[in-house]
Amino acid sequence: MKILVTGGAGFIGSNFIYYMLKKHPAYKIVCLDKLTYAGNLENLKEAFENPNFSFEKGDIADAEKMDGLFGRERFDAVVNFAAESHVDRSISDPQVFLKTNILGTGVLMDACRKYSCRFHQVSTDEVYGDLPLDRKDLFFTENTPLKASSPYSASKASADLLVLAYHRTFGLEATISRCSNNYGPFQFPEKFIPLIISRAYEGKSVPVYGKGENVRDWLHVDDHCSAVDLILHKGKAGEVYNVGGHNERTNLEVVRTVLREMGKPEELISFVSDRPGHDLRYAINPSKIQNELGWNAVYDFDSGIKTTIEWYLNNMDWLKNITDGEYKNYYEKMYGGRG
Ligand code: NAD
Ligand code: TYD
Repeated sequence: MKILVTGGAGFIGSNFIYYMLKKHPAYKIVCLDKLTYAGNLENLKEAFENPNFSFEKGDIADAEKMDGLFGRERFDAVVNFAAESHVDRSISDPQVFLKTNILGTGVLMDACRKYSCRFHQVSTDEVYGDLPLDRKDLFFTENTPLKASSPYSASKASADLLVLAYHRTFGLEATISRCSNNYGPFQFPEKFIPLIISRAYEGKSVPVYGKGENVRDWLHVDDHCSAVDLILHKGKAGEVYNVGGHNERTNLEVVRTVLREMGKPEELISFVSDRPGHDLRYAINPSKIQNELGWNAVYDFDSGIKTTIEWYLNNMDWLKNITDGEYKNYYEKMYGGRG
């Protein structure tokens, strides 16, 4: 197979590229990425050593560029990770979320229709809105109504509707996965877990929104990658699959665990103003992907978070290249004027 992975220079996309190169050594993987602030080519340093991997800089919302790329490469499948992904940024500047997350998905699917290509949309459990904190018996299923709270999740929900419409109207061979919060290597340090690690390492305060009572359902990124791989190969077109591993933690539990593992004092915790519209609780019911496709998470949070903290502590240069902006020069260094 020849697979286009969009957004592959970001957190989950780069982990997925390594997962696929290892699991399917005969596959050809092309990464397309716009290299926004969240795209870091250094994440793919080792992938560049593999002859089955190549990189293309570009915007998924650029229809002309996508047409040229698809016409030239003749992909068998596209896995769309490319997105603006940070809720806080969607609150301060929503428009780019609409362009990339909604229009970009439409452009990619038009190219898939024209060149007969399978399409997988990487979505999020945030499209379902939130669950109350006092109803631990409630979980998101694939039939939970969409009720997005932030411009980010509304843009992802819109894209999901578009994917289902393209399947129904045009017969596009498309699937959707809706995963809970991921953690693991290569996550941009604006997100909660790498933010805690990088600030605590420097002895700086760690901001916790509101009272830290909000609950997230944490999944190791490798478990997300195995789910997407499975859906790509065995998923049924037109179907949605929830992905999660029943690892619910309050934000306060997460920050305390990370500080304890790092040997840092809890005094670093600093309660700050809450995020507007802050979703209370996410919790996934993953029965469908477990029963129909045989997927199961391998990591539990307590062991996964230890190896993740270790990874960041062993890769402080990677983190420093981001905090001092050096990572933005990686493309120029690799491609010079040729990009
Ligand atoms: P990320 O922000 O780390 O990476 C996004 C990547 O997309 C970056 O490399 C960026 O340069 C690229 N990109 C942005 N706009 C683009 C455009 N217009 N054209 C081409 N490339 C573009 O995000 P992530 O955390 O890796 O998330 C990947 C996907 O998974 C997103 O679709 C997100 O909605 C979804 N998701 C994330 C989580 C999570 O916990 N991080 C959970 C569930 C679903
Ligand atoms: P985040 O990593 O931004 O993911 P999402 O908003 O998509 O779930 O945030 C995870 C949780 O951590 C969320 O409830 C918001 C909270 N949070 C903080 O308390 N402080 C922070 O500095 C950040 C970035 C997030």
